[in-house]
Amino acid sequence: MNTDYYTIAHEKLQKLRDKEDICILGIESSCDDTAIGIIRGNKVLANQISSQIFIHQQFGGVVPEIASRNHVQNIDIVLKKALEEANISLNEIDCIAVTYGAGLQGSLLVGVAFAKALAFSLEIPLIPINHIRGHICANFIDHPELSFPFLCLLASGGHTEILKVNSYSNMEILGQTRDDAAGEAFDKVARILGFNYPGGPEIEKYAKLGSPNIEFSIPLKNEDTLDFSYSGLKTNIINYVHNYTQKNQEYNKYDVAASFQKIAVDMLVNNAIKAAKDYGFNAISIAGGVAANTLLRERIQEEGSKNNITVYIPTKVLCTDNGLMIAKAAHIAIKEGIDNATLNLDVKSNLD
Ligand code: KG4
Ligand code: ZN
Repeated sequence: MNTDYYTIAHEKLQKLRDKEDICILGIESSCDDTAIGIIRGNKVLANQISSQIFIHQQFGGVVPEIASRNHVQNIDIVLKKALEEANISLNEIDCIAVTYGAGLQGSLLVGVAFAKALAFSLEIPLIPINHIRGHICANFIDHPELSFPFLCLLASGGHTEILKVNSYSNMEILGQTRDDAAGEAFDKVARILGFNYPGGPEIEKYAKLGSPNIEFSIPLKNEDTLDFSYSGLKTNIINYVHNYTQKNQEYNKYDVAASFQKIAVDMLVNNAIKAAKDYGFNAISIAGGVAANTLLRERIQEEGSKNNITVYIPTKVLCTDNGLMIAKAAHIAIKEGIDNATLNLDVKSNLD
């Protein structure tokens, strides 16, 4: 049964490789968003995201067990809404794409099991997608003119990297964090300041009420490197806050948020521009949840135009987790020759 399904789907996949208006349904459930996106060729047909933020906020972060239970409850509702938004029936879908890693094991399992059931019942190919490569491919949704190779500054909750993107399956790391990811630092600093989860949007909101007048030292500032250290920056902030609280003195949370945000963003922008210059690229793209940050988007545009570097930025909703980026990644991977998965496809909580 298993082999039969794979063979039928494989034959269909070969025919789809040259199809211009291939219709792909992408499923993303690696963390706390249950998301399904549908594309037809370069056209976006639907983008449905069911967020669990309000459930996890009371715990100060994502609780894996609760996340997977909510994915189970939400996923078929999200599918129904996506089909309604796209105004198509399931029979019009050519293939199913799904995030199989990296992420929370239980959360991934829900998406992968659902994707397998859909692909098997419709007898269409199942394409396994790496979440991080999906984030990077989000750039092609708004900018179909983007072509390989290109540079990408990826900053999410678990990753901070500058990559030379040669193709979907071939990406070289030119610089990366030596410790915490940028998004992780936003989340931790928000927690120190008593703000809600997730920290990125909270820091962004409260930074507007303060000014970036505190000069925290900038990690790796004097090194000729494309690497980052966000743990160092976070520690500087913890020390600053402790200093005041130990002396029972008041400090301005909003100034701390604004100062942290400015440095965190400067670190990303400086290294991205340096990478473009070092490696002779005249364009940079950005990706991942932190790329939704308004200051980062403005600063990288500014520095890009000063240095004659074109900057590609996905719309905000395509920077944080979504199903469209998974569908788009599959579109590119199919053109590149990726094979379809069997029904034995397993999840991988960690991926290189
Ligand atoms: O890409 P993503 O949605 O999930 C992962 O794959 O990790 O990224 C989530 C991360 C969180 O750490 C969140 O605080 C951060 O992205 N983030 C932001 C903003 N929106 C989300 N960081 C800074 N500014 C934002 N507006
Ligand atoms: Zn993500």
